[in-house]
Amino acid sequence: MAFKTIIEPFRIKSVEPIAWTTREERVAHLAAAHHNLFLLPADAILIDLLTDSGTGAMSTHQWAGIMEGDESYAGSPSWVRFRDSVQDIFGYAHVIPTHQGRAAERILFGIVCKPGDVVPNNTHFDTTRANVEFTGAEAVDLPIAEAREPGAEHPFKGNMDVAALEALIDRVGPGRIPLVMLTITNNSGGGQPVSMANARAVQAVCRRHGIPLYFDACRFAENAYFVKLREPGYADQTPKAIAQAMLRLGDGCTMSAKKDGMANIGGFLCTNDDALAQQEENLLILTEGYPTYGGLAGRDLEAIAIGLQEALHEDYLRYRITATRYLGDHLTAAGVPIVRPPGGHAIYIDARAFLPHVPPEQFPGVSLGCALYVEGGIRTVEIGTLMFKDAARHDLVRLAIPRRVYTQSHIDYVVEVVLHVWARRERLGGYGLTYAAPFLRHFTARLAPLKG
Ligand code: F0G
Repeated sequence: MAFKTIIEPFRIKSVEPIAWTTREERVAHLAAAHHNLFLLPADAILIDLLTDSGTGAMSTHQWAGIMEGDESYAGSPSWVRFRDSVQDIFGYAHVIPTHQGRAAERILFGIVCKPGDVVPNNTHFDTTRANVEFTGAEAVDLPIAEAREPGAEHPFKGNMDVAALEALIDRVGPGRIPLVMLTITNNSGGGQPVSMANARAVQAVCRRHGIPLYFDACRFAENAYFVKLREPGYADQTPKAIAQAMLRLGDGCTMSAKKDGMANIGGFLCTNDDALAQQEENLLILTEGYPTYGGLAGRDLEAIAIGLQEALHEDYLRYRITATRYLGDHLTAAGVPIVRPPGGHAIYIDARAFLPHVPPEQFPGVSLGCALYVEGGIRTVEIGTLMFKDAARHDLVRLAIPRRVYTQSHIDYVVEVVLHVWARRERLGGYGLTYAAPFLRHFTARLAPLKG
């Protein structure tokens, strides 16, 4: 008998109390934080949906692995277990550990990119874009047309526009494109998956022009599960087999183990290119650490080795994707505008559609985020005009769901708070900046509500 209720596939052995505050206290906290949710003390937050990065709960196996961690500077058995686990799934010849994803990006792009180069991606994550641009190269986003429309349903909204990729290569020439990158899932595009067919089509174009294909593989397991659910021919394959097949289309990857590595810190860089790997290891030694630990403790390597495999367990992925969809579908049913369909790790509310009376220059995403905190103690993140200035195509509020941390009643509470704010949306006003740093301003910006 298959029952329809999908339950959390774990029981809870250790609990972490969360902070109850009054509405008045939250108003005071928000004012002291200059209406920037990044500046709040985390112990004044009830449900923290700022990010799914490094915020997951580890399993008993991972905690056991932590105790087994071997802290030898060189040649630790924890490194061997880490490398073997990564190679089992990812299949690349060289594995280079780093302290998190952006360190892998910096090393890779620092070596392969030069001024005038162009790096295509379905959509660059902000650190990926920043690391490409830091080398003087240009980061170009080539999502399919459907991805630009928040409400448009599409099973693989993370796909790359293959015709646009071919046109770009024709225009600039393959010599100026050191690699093509596919971000699985496409975080900045709404946590949307890339299909196997699209990855194959992109690989075929890359092969034809002799350009390496890399994956930004942060959420590779969630992507594999979407392929199983949605792409014809994959229903009977395991998420692991699907992930292995997709990753083997590439020549290498960057990875943040803080997502589908199920760890609180860590990352890695992979490649099949021997000469490149040597250059990468040399740079790694300069800034991150020796190649058998790369800035991580042996215990972190153990946690990641185990976490990567756990992220592919089918009961876990079923619960993970169902929990995110549950939140999204309840908001959609009540009329709240979100990026459709629900992504893997997060729900993105369309703040421009939620607050049509607040123009983008008055930060509708900030207004909605502040209201969710004041009314319900929930922290989210603005992905819009505060983050990207005039380049922002949308004003979104991301509700990212940490892995294995919150239960269905927490999600029910989040739905209730969003609907409470939705019912009072006309009372929400805009915000103005009182301080902004010259770059990555969203982390430290100060804002104040506009009068009137
Ligand atoms: N690539 C993607 C697609 C990401 O989502 C992230 C991080 C990174 C690279 C960088 O990895 O943080 O380990 O250096 N995303 C987090 C987020 C921060 O909240 O979406 P990192």
